[in-house]
Amino acid sequence: MNIENKIITALKAADGYISGEALSRTLNITRAGVWKHIETLRLMGYKILAVPRHGYRLTESPDRLIPAEVQQGLLTRTLGKHIHYFDSIPSTMNEAFRLGSEGAPDGTVIIAETQTKGRGRMGRGWASPKNKGIYFSVILRPKCAPSQAARMTLVSAVAVSEAVERVTGIRPLIKWPNDLLLGGRKLCGILTEMRAETDRVEFMVAGIGINVNNGPHQLLPEAISLKQVLGRQVPRVALFQEILKSLEERYLQVQQDGFKDAFAAWRARSATLGQEVRFLERDHMVKAEALDIDEDGALLVRLSDGRMVKRVAGDIAHG
Ligand code: BTN
Repeated sequence: MNIENKIITALKAADGYISGEALSRTLNITRAGVWKHIETLRLMGYKILAVPRHGYRLTESPDRLIPAEVQQGLLTRTLGKHIHYFDSIPSTMNEAFRLGSEGAPDGTVIIAETQTKGRGRMGRGWASPKNKGIYFSVILRPKCAPSQAARMTLVSAVAVSEAVERVTGIRPLIKWPNDLLLGGRKLCGILTEMRAETDRVEFMVAGIGINVNNGPHQLLPEAISLKQVLGRQVPRVALFQEILKSLEERYLQVQQDGFKDAFAAWRARSATLGQEVRFLERDHMVKAEALDIDEDGALLVRLSDGRMVKRVAGDIAHG
């Protein structure tokens, strides 16, 4: 992919045609090699003109999340400056942990067009149909204690909801702790994992899956895609760039000023607060009213017998 990525960067930078010779020189490969990689790009859906004595010209790009596309016009300082792209991978989470253990820098992104073993919360899977959704993990190195890092999960949900609203005009609501919903159906799931010592986070990985251009047969019954709501395809590159920008803004903001503002935004976008919720407590399904989140992001609920309890982790159902 690296060479294809470099060719796209060169074709985009060229104002018009770029000669095969110039490409071969820049990439340090033979002209036959250039031709082979151009063919691979055409198979991916890139329309590239080849004109004798002029060279190559890019006339149309498919909506692929390759670094050359994502990084062009990306308005972030660190998030997405290092992107590891995969056409197919078991899970971006595993790759993020591997890279994080090897010292990959803060803000490194791992993205895949499809995952064969996408992971969800509570041991569930995450369906990742090829080229339809956005499936990625971000490596973060916040300077904080492990107990504080859990709150980043809620912050990620706020950031993705804000980005989706900016790009599409529709406002996904957040089901505690961090699912994004549209019309009560799931649009986006977030899985946060970390490697930590007792008092220090080594790194965190936020894994985010969004249903973007999935058709009805590419979704579980309880899920929904942006395409279904809007009735049109959504450009994944533009949406992904906005998500990276929004994540970076929120992550920087909470590290500088604390969680107050992000948690206020979470409350304003919450689908859970004020609702009746159900969850398992020691093998029993209990009903409660969701009242608020506390400063750690735990859900505060009032049980039907009037007792107030805190739900720190796990799943809830609405209604
Ligand atoms: C959930 O709602 O259960 C969380 C789903 C998280 C899915 C994303 S897709 C990218 C990253 N890689 C994975 O294997 N999982 C996360």
